[in-house]
Amino acid sequence: MTAVRVETRRWIIEQPHDSVDGLKREIGIREAAAMLREGKLVAFPTETVYGLGADARSDEAVKKIFQAKGRPSDNPLIVHIGKREQLDELVSTLPDTGRVLIERFWPGPLTLILPHRGTVAPSVTAGLRTVGVRMPSHPVALALLQEAGVPVAAPSANRSGRPSPTEAEHVWEDLAGRIDGLLDGGPSGVGVESTVVDVTEEVPILLRPGGITLEALKKVVGEVRVDPGLQAEAQRPRSPGMKYRHYAPNGEMWLVTGTEADMMRTIQRLADDAAAQGRRVGILTTDERLMRYKADWVVSCGRRSEPESVARGLYAALRRFDELGAEYILAESFPVDGIWFTVMNRLRKAAEGRIIHAERSTSS
Ligand code: TXA
Ligand code: MG
Repeated sequence: MTAVRVETRRWIIEQPHDSVDGLKREIGIREAAAMLREGKLVAFPTETVYGLGADARSDEAVKKIFQAKGRPSDNPLIVHIGKREQLDELVSTLPDTGRVLIERFWPGPLTLILPHRGTVAPSVTAGLRTVGVRMPSHPVALALLQEAGVPVAAPSANRSGRPSPTEAEHVWEDLAGRIDGLLDGGPSGVGVESTVVDVTEEVPILLRPGGITLEALKKVVGEVRVDPGLQAEAQRPRSPGMKYRHYAPNGEMWLVTGTEADMMRTIQRLADDAAAQGRRVGILTTDERLMRYKADWVVSCGRRSEPESVARGLYAALRRFDELGAEYILAESFPVDGIWFTVMNRLRKAAEGRIIHAERSTSS
């Protein structure tokens, strides 16, 4: 499917800005909001990643999102709202668990799956009876959504399969000439997508780990079930070639697990073997260990001592390997609690199920 070539407007919004109301007076926000109301495609920053927005009520507008991204149309989109009242136009019921999660986490990186009331375009929900809704906390996103006044369907603003964009420049690389506008509000803060929780059942179900941790959800609603897909994945690697290619760099990426010493030794050995075969090798690590590997490229995604920094830097690091032309990428693994759970989920997807369990050292 080839998208129509369009001219992409780009507005820079200086950050930090004093208030959402102040932002609404910015010409860039007003023009972008008008474009959304006209059924055009506008990319904008959120606190998680950049989103590619279109009027969620217009099937024609939403279909252009799938075209621009090259996204399979059976994957539903999240609807973004700028005011709490807009939720009532979208969903038929709001269970108590949903209510308390909204009170605690909105605006913020939490998407709730709720029964819809037929007001969003069928292409948003991929024919499901539910819709995912969130109110982002990024001031530029809030100003845009409030000024547009329409619910905005927005997946991450990357070409399908590529790492999600955490800077306007990433969006530009992927989508310039395929979308009508791009609001540049600087780097997004959290760096990984929103947490998706289905609240249509008595016990909420975590469908996608994200910026809000499982532990934080449980503190608010008590019990939370974790989608079996996520658990199975967490325990044993699925075979390569899962349903969708996701967040993946162009090179062949492997995630290496094990104790620190075993993992590092295994990564270096595999890097050396690949280099001996003439492959251009990248290693994904953190600031603390940058100097401890030898390869064509050793790239840091943040500081291991500060998990939030790794979430923030992960996608840019994955994109970096593409820029460098890495053919074979070895990634360190992380713990699985808190925000690490989200980081590991994305790393596994980026590696498309290619996981190596480092062998225990037999010598001491
Ligand atoms: O942080 C985010 O959520 C970003 C920013 C732009 O807001 N958006 C984002 O959208 O990540 P996207 O399209 O890349 O991911 C949407 C996720 C997918 O995993 C999709 O399957 C799920 O939400 N989803 C959407 N509607 C759903 C529904 N009705 N039922 C189950 N899952 C749904
Ligand atoms: Mg995405």
